[in-house]
Amino acid sequence: MPNYPDEVALSNAVNHLSHLPPLVTSWEIEALKGELAEAAEGRRFVLQGGDCSENFDECQSSTIAGKLKILLQMSVVLIHGSRRPVTRVGRFAGQYAKPRSKDEETKDGVTLPSYRGDLVNRAEFTPESRIPNPDLLLRGYYNAALTLNFIRSLIDGGFADLHHPEYWELDFVKHASKSAEYESLVADITSSVNFLENVSGKPISDFSRVEFYTSHEGLHLLYEQAQTRQVPRREGWYNLSTHFPWIGDRTRNLKEAHIEYFRGIQNPIGVKVGPTMEPDELIALIDALNPKDEPGRLMLIHRFGDQKITDHLPNLIGKVMSAKKSVTWCCDPMHGNTETAGNYKTRNFTKILSELEQAFDVHQKAGSVLGGVHFELTGENVTECTGGARGLNAEDLARDYRTQVDPRLNYEQALEMALLIAQRMKA
Ligand code: PEP
Ligand code: CO
Repeated sequence: MPNYPDEVALSNAVNHLSHLPPLVTSWEIEALKGELAEAAEGRRFVLQGGDCSENFDECQSSTIAGKLKILLQMSVVLIHGSRRPVTRVGRFAGQYAKPRSKDEETKDGVTLPSYRGDLVNRAEFTPESRIPNPDLLLRGYYNAALTLNFIRSLIDGGFADLHHPEYWELDFVKHASKSAEYESLVADITSSVNFLENVSGKPISDFSRVEFYTSHEGLHLLYEQAQTRQVPRREGWYNLSTHFPWIGDRTRNLKEAHIEYFRGIQNPIGVKVGPTMEPDELIALIDALNPKDEPGRLMLIHRFGDQKITDHLPNLIGKVMSAKKSVTWCCDPMHGNTETAGNYKTRNFTKILSELEQAFDVHQKAGSVLGGVHFELTGENVTECTGGARGLNAEDLARDYRTQVDPRLNYEQALEMALLIAQRMKA
């Protein structure tokens, strides 16, 4: 928890937040839980993605629409490759609080508290900006509400026409070594979409309602708690700030507060699982968070790094399978592959893909199901991750590096990643 210097202001903000209307509903939350249960059995696939850290200044129409567009387009590619329905979960409308490895940051001999996400303090490197400010909890809520409102209207208003490959920006394809394969996959998708429209006599956007679910790391417990409510005709407590909150790799200690809070809510929840997780600890965690073994309740989002995944994942899967626990497995190939290049934190496309391919292999070999993937990405062509069809290298990073926390796949890299996963799933 951040140290708020003004406790009265903090308690006023939390009190105010606890009286504002919810952002999502319990029936949407239960619907997602059902979908995650299907994904655990291989009847559905989950695509979760968005910024590492949303920021208030980017609560703008173009940024939000861009994120929605890339997620929708990736999902179409994945539906085609996996031959399964795809559940889309955005890391948006609340992804404002960040865990940090260090409490302080030093620049040119000056040491200040670390930036911990716009929900807590501001990124600017000045003493005033870095003081935790309770008003930001309310601004976070309002920005989440604005974001979600726009997303819901876009979806209702036919934005889903972006299903059509004509709307995709596929310029990068010609730079890829696999360009012929990409082109044939896109041609295949185009003909499937056209076929569906001809047979049904309706545009594809009328065909089925496109759903987007929201998610964020449930890090700031006061923010989460203030929006945790009881609802009529259902038992228990719902976190109504998001459909799918998750517990980060740094806050999943069994004896600590996040587990205590999360075990008391009805939402489907995620837990990030990194290299320090021991198999017995994982079983204890599953027992604490899902004592009734409810399908769809728990998604384990593993993130080891391309060099470490085969050392850790097989044992964890083996343990979960022999204990007969129902979980939905998801691979986050981003967080274990962070590296530094000069002044920049970056990630390499080939390593990200390699962790993902190894995840498919390990699950297949163990007889378990990889039910989803989790990416940090953006709809714009920023230069934060290296590699991909255009071969971005360390020198290119300076050109358009915008993230304040972790590096994201850009539009082209994200779409290419989806094409590669689709090919793999089809095979
Ligand atoms: C994140 O998802 O941005 C994050 C901080 O991940 P992890 O908890 O896996 O490090
Ligand atoms: Co991140």
